Amino acid sequence: MQRELAGFGAAADGGVCREALTEIDLAARSWLCRLLPAASYEWMVDDAANLIVRRAGTVPGLAPVMTGSHMDTQPMGGWLDGAFGVIAGIEALMALDDAGIHTRRPIEVVAWTNEEGTRFKPGAMGSSAFAEPGRLAGFLQTRDSKGETFETACNAAIERILPSAKRSPLGHPVHAYIEAHIEQGPVLESGQCRLGVVTSIQGVRWYEVEVRGVSAHAGTTPMQLRHDAVLAAAELVVRINEAAAARDDGNLRLTVGRFDVPGSSINTIASHVGFSIDLRHPSDAFLADMEELIKRVIRKQTRCAAEIRTLMQRAPTQFDADVLSIVENAVAATGAPYCSLGSGAFHDAMYVAEVAPAAMLFVPSRNGISHNPMEDTDEADLVLGTRALAAALVTLANQ
Ligand code: GLV
Ligand code: MN
Ligand code: MN
Repeated sequence: MQRELAGFGAAADGGVCREALTEIDLAARSWLCRLLPAASYEWMVDDAANLIVRRAGTVPGLAPVMTGSHMDTQPMGGWLDGAFGVIAGIEALMALDDAGIHTRRPIEVVAWTNEEGTRFKPGAMGSSAFAEPGRLAGFLQTRDSKGETFETACNAAIERILPSAKRSPLGHPVHAYIEAHIEQGPVLESGQCRLGVVTSIQGVRWYEVEVRGVSAHAGTTPMQLRHDAVLAAAELVVRINEAAAARDDGNLRLTVGRFDVPGSSINTIASHVGFSIDLRHPSDAFLADMEELIKRVIRKQTRCAAEIRTLMQRAPTQFDADVLSIVENAVAATGAPYCSLGSGAFHDAMYVAEVAPAAMLFVPSRNGISHNPMEDTDEADLVLGTRALAAALVTLANQ
């Protein structure tokens, strides 16, 4: 099933390109809906196009236990980031059916919309709107690089899925949430752990920097008369990285992953550059200091006008002690070596944790690689993670 999902958006280099709410993502969602029989499962789609399937519990009226992750990928992503957590949830439900296990509470598996935040910024839109439905209004007019709004893409996705799913309100009570995910880093592998109990997610801030110069002829404009936005932006990227390196306590992560020069041409000095900054650290106070430092660096440059804007800001997330102990028991019961760790990547669980006790479960990433077509995990570890997830879901769903 995991391999079949990777076929939606499969790239020649072994990676997957399935950006949020594209035709390929919609086709994958329709395929997902066919995995569990409509007769015994309830499929639902909400206003943020989150796709949720519910397995009924035996006691009416109890809030569901939820699991899942996202199906969208990076533009040049791998086959498991997000996809593993959705398929592990579906596999867990199938295993309960096969074993004839019934739980007191319903169990829901969710595919959250637009976790990656590459087509529409910021990331984790679906889960953040689920946690706080008022946030959706702020996302609807966000446009992708071709000018399409999130609202248009979202409505098209809802229409498309409606024959297979019923429309449901955005957000509902959740008894507990567990997200299974690949680690996307080297900690489990280097510690020879096959499973990870994820205690926290580090803080993250996303920024957009706009640099505005003056476009001019490359052949006629003397060097000292230029306001070259590419040069100013390139200098800023280097200075910001140098300032970050000087403060790094070993836990800082700073990335300029996108650098756009709209309308660029070989023989024109660029008038406009936009670049992104992704800043992460386990301490929110440290992030606030770094933000001030970055703003100072930007204020100091004089070659062009430059502005910085915050796209997303999340303080570190601490997961729930009770759910963590249930995840740890389920992981330990597999008999496989495991460790506890914090997450370097952010996840939908970060938002769900605002409204429900939540925790996560990791499987190792080969060579720590992710957001890369080479992303991979041993199949035996995917199975192990799915087994631990199923056991933890049953414990929570019988509370
Ligand atoms: C999620 O994809 C992240 O950027 O951490
Ligand atoms: Mn992910
Ligand atoms: Mn990702």
